[in-house]
Amino acid sequence: MRRFDNNNLLIFAVTLVYIFQSSSSLKIGETCSTSSNNCDSGLICGTCPASGNTRPRCTRTQPLSPTSKVNGLPFNRYTWLTTHNSFAVSGTKSATGSLVLGPANQEDDVTSQLKNGVRGLMLDMYDFNNDIWLCHSFGGKCYNITAFQPAINVLREIQKFLQANPSEIITIFIEDYVTSPRGLTNLFAASGLDKFRFPVNRMPKNGSDWPTITDMVKQNQRLIVFTSKSSKEASEGIAYEWTYVVENQYGSEGQVAGSCPSRSESAPLNTTSRSLILQNYFSTNPNFTGACIDNSAPIISMMNTCQIAAGNRWPNYIAVDFYKRSDGGGAAEAVDEANGHLTCGCPNIAYCGVNGTCNTPVLSPPPPAQLSPGGSGGSSQSFSIHEVVRLQWLIGALCSILIFLLL
Ligand SMILES: *[C@@H]1O[C@H](CO)[C@@H](O)[C@H](O)[C@H]1NC(C)=O
Ligand SMILES: *[C@@H]1O[C@H](CO)[C@@H](O)[C@H](O)[C@H]1NC(C)=O
Ligand SMILES: *[C@@H]1O[C@H](CO)[C@@H](O)[C@H](O)[C@H]1NC(C)=O
Ligand SMILES: *[C@@H]1O[C@H](CO)[C@@H](O)[C@H](O)[C@H]1NC(C)=O
Ligand SMILES: *[C@@H]1O[C@H](CO)[C@@H](O)[C@H](O)[C@H]1NC(C)=O
Repeated sequence: MRRFDNNNLLIFAVTLVYIFQSSSSLKIGETCSTSSNNCDSGLICGTCPASGNTRPRCTRTQPLSPTSKVNGLPFNRYTWLTTHNSFAVSGTKSATGSLVLGPANQEDDVTSQLKNGVRGLMLDMYDFNNDIWLCHSFGGKCYNITAFQPAINVLREIQKFLQANPSEIITIFIEDYVTSPRGLTNLFAASGLDKFRFPVNRMPKNGSDWPTITDMVKQNQRLIVFTSKSSKEASEGIAYEWTYVVENQYGSEGQVAGSCPSRSESAPLNTTSRSLILQNYFSTNPNFTGACIDNSAPIISMMNTCQIAAGNRWPNYIAVDFYKRSDGGGAAEAVDEANGHLTCGCPNIAYCGVNGTCNTPVLSPPPPAQLSPGGSGGSSQSFSIHEVVRLQWLIGALCSILIFLLL
């Protein structure tokens, strides 16, 4: 008899949840359906079982566009979401026809990454098959089983995006194994990207500010390219990364809580003659299931550690694996926080107010004791929206408890 009552209640609760969820799209953290992504745009419905979060919830995939809040600052006053090994997409077959061995780092292609607000791309380039390919390596060499695709394909995706989005700026970090003479020069020329290149002679070498976003957009110098090979700056006019950027240690060694050592190729993080700071935060053994933990509280905690190590400077690039995975705010939240500190001095770009003020929301505001009868229409309306959300949460929680009790 008792069981019968519970079942009826369960059906009632499920129906209510269904009615509420199908009638409105869902906000971050709300329980969603993984089969019919019913979250707001910019969110996906995901879980993070590795951290115990098995309730499907709306999870962020896109940072806020910082320039939509605070425009016109020098380039080094912004933070950009960056994908590590942007080209190593899970489930892709090598363009050689071979299966790709070894781990993937992302789950969607570069075009999709750019649409989600990724603005830094890490690309490993090798001479291969009389061309330049995006590849992993064994001993610095590319093989069929580690080769993803010719680099020009991805550069053309970037070209299309820059063409279609005339105020966006993209940075490419090349891990450069190309030795063919003028290989990169020819590659960029063939891709149609030359007209967007930000010239090396405008990049500050002494730690001063970069040109402003406004200026870069106006001059259409919206593609920054860095190489890991020092000789190419003189020979091909491609900026040698370590003259302009500092980075912390990548891989699992860079994930030890409480310390933020610099990467061996990089000058120490607190070297102020480098204007740009890149924070790596991803495992040496990239995997889909673990990345959602990395891209949650730990990445923000490490960002605070690295900020101190870098001489109280916030990162300009935050580089991750599986950027869409987290248990809620994710890498997007880390980027928004850094952008807040960098652009307006608030703890999140969402809070930047007028004239240097911050509209920091009070976390978990207590519900008002009673409805104010003389309240303005606007505030009573926003109150009722919150009530619906709260009700939905309540029902979701109730439902989970019932399922738990019954199963
Ligand atoms: C690598 O792939 C190419 C096709 O792109 C093929 O011609 C070649 O035989 C393959 N090499 C090996 C070692 O499998
Ligand atoms: C840095 O170099 C630029 C030229 O690139 C110069 O205008 C500026 O004064 C220098 N700043 C410092 C602090 O040396
Ligand atoms: C940079 O940090 C190191 C410790 O990692 C410290 O010894 C050095 O004094 C710092 N340099 C500056 C310029 O703050
Ligand atoms: C998966 O990723 C997590 C978090 O990045 C890492 O700690 C773990 O070692 C990885 N597991 C495997 C089997 O590679
Ligand atoms: C912001 O500052 C400007 C110039 O000081 C002033 O005219 C304006 O009223 C201020 N706005 C607000 C909302 O305080």
